[in-house]
This record gives sequence, C-alpha cells and structure tokens, in this order.
Amino acid sequence: MLKMIKNISLMVMVALGGISFANASGDGGYEVKRHDWPHAGPFGKFDKGALQRGLQVYTEVCSGCHSLDYVAFRELVALGYSTDEVKAFAATYEFANGFDDEGEEKYRKGLPQDYFPAPFASEEEARDSNNGALPPDFSLLGKSREHLSMFTPWNSVYGEDYIVGILTTYHEEAPHGVELAEGMNFNETFPGNQIAMAPPLFDDAVEYADGTVATTQQMAQDVATFMYWAAEPKMEERKKMGLKVIIFMSLLTIMLYFVNKSVWKNVKKGDDLV
Ligand code: HEC
Repeated sequence: MLKMIKNISLMVMVALGGISFANASGDGGYEVKRHDWPHAGPFGKFDKGALQRGLQVYTEVCSGCHSLDYVAFRELVALGYSTDEVKAFAATYEFANGFDDEGEEKYRKGLPQDYFPAPFASEEEARDSNNGALPPDFSLLGKSREHLSMFTPWNSVYGEDYIVGILTTYHEEAPHGVELAEGMNFNETFPGNQIAMAPPLFDDAVEYADGTVATTQQMAQDVATFMYWAAEPKMEERKKMGLKVIIFMSLLTIMLYFVNKSVWKNVKKGDDLV
C-alpha cells in the first residue's frame, strides 16, 4: 500500500514538473508578463480610475476597428459615472432613426439604453478595411485567450496580461529568419507571432482626462482593465455573493455540529438502537 502511494506521488510530481518547465505563453512562444491587478483575488475590486481611462482609450483608439456589442451605455455607471454623465456620454453618439419626408436618413442622439455602435456595418466591410483580418468584438475578448491552469498556476495566462502583452510586445522588425506575410506585424504574444493589427498604441496616443501620463504601458493596462470589466461586469457582485455563501455555509456547519451532538447526547456507545 505504502509503495503504491509512493509510486503515485512520484508520478504526479514528474507530471507537474514536466508542465512547469513550459513558459506561461500566450502561444506566441514568448513569456506573457504577469501584472498585479487590483481586481484579482477573492477580495479584488476594479480600479475605477483605470476603468475610466480604459474607456477613454477604447473610445479614442480601439473603437475605430473593434465593436463592443454587448455593452450598453447605462452600464457605465459601474465605472463610477453619475447617470447624468452617462446620459451626456451617450448623447455624443448618433443613431440612424428612419427617414424624413424627403427620404433623407434621420439621426437621433444616443440614449443610456443604447449599445455601443459598431465601427463597421458588416463583417465584410470590417475585413476589407483590415487587410482581410476581422477585428474581434471587445465584449468577451478580455477573457477569451485566458487559460488558467489549476495544478500549475504559474503557467496560467490571464486575459488582462494577454491583452497588455499584445499591445506592448510588437517588434519593429521581425527577428532574423522570420518571413512576415504582407501587411502583418511581428508580435511576441499573438499565437503564431503574425498579427494583422498594426501597433494601435504609442506614447501620448490619448490625453487622459484625469491627467495621468499616457505611456503605452499605462494605456495598455487601463484598456485591459476596461476590457476585463466588459467581459465580466458582474465580477464584484459574484465575489461578494461567494463570500456570503462561504460565511453562511460555515455558520451552518457549526450549527449542524451542535445539533448533531445534542441529538445523540443521550445515546451511549454500545446502546442497542433498534
Ligand atoms: C486599425 C484597426 C484596429 C485598431 C485601431 C485596433 N485594432 Fe485590435 N485588432 C485589429 C485586427 C484586424 C485584429 C485581428 C488581428 C489578426 O487576426 O491577425 C485585432 C486584434 C486584436 C487583439 C487580439 C485578439 C486575439 O484574437 O487574440 C487584441 C487584444 C486587440 N486587437 C486589442 C486592441 C486594442 C486594445 C486596441 C486599442 C488600443 C485595438 N486593438 C485597436 C484591428 C485594430
């Protein structure tokens, strides 16, 4: 028996050891750098400043190509905006609204219940403008390339780190011996290293409303935070609920322990129960 346990634990150790030699790579073959995210961990909360700056990066830079189909303006109150601010933000957008008597298209201002409009009318149009590649929708992109490893957590790649990786690991020139296809860019993080998206960020690409210095790294982290929120807007509620469930279950366990004790209090060992 002891020998069997020894053998099994040896096998498990070898298996884990084998995996741990691999880098935490986003499949691009390079290591994806880990960041400390304030929203990580069981008590993590979103950094509202980062979310607001991330929204600014999205609207001023990324929204030219990437849609955000599943987020409505009214949800932006979660970023720390008042309902009036959300109304004003929505009103900066215009939506087609039927035709007037002369057959001209009419427009109306955006309302809080509207969703972010897509930059292209169709997938075809999006591909035509992007060298054949489709800029994926942002709503779930924050988590789509995440792969978490339960047994070897150091090999996990988190969605936000992957996005920062994509935005900050372009090479101006492909490494020696790598042939880039027409219109492609070399990126350490993107699977296969050839990405159709040209580097979208450069220092001071935006002028932050809160005065934060807009380095490429800063904007990358902010927009990654925003994208992670878009992919999981209910994260904080989920964590709070999880905590409540754990507290409730602990109290229930303690209570049941004493109930059990008191039920069996008068029964002695060896008593005939039937
Ligand atoms: C000029 C158009 C354009 C802009 C602006 C742009 N992107 Fe992209 N993006 C693309 C295209 C096209 C792809 C698909 C690339 C491919 O498949 O090779 C892409 C892919 C990506 C990916 C990788 C998705 C994956 O499949 O892993 C990320 C992450 C991303 N973009 C983030 C951003 C962020 C963040 C911004 C704003 C800072 C941004 N993009 C701005 C066109 C753009």
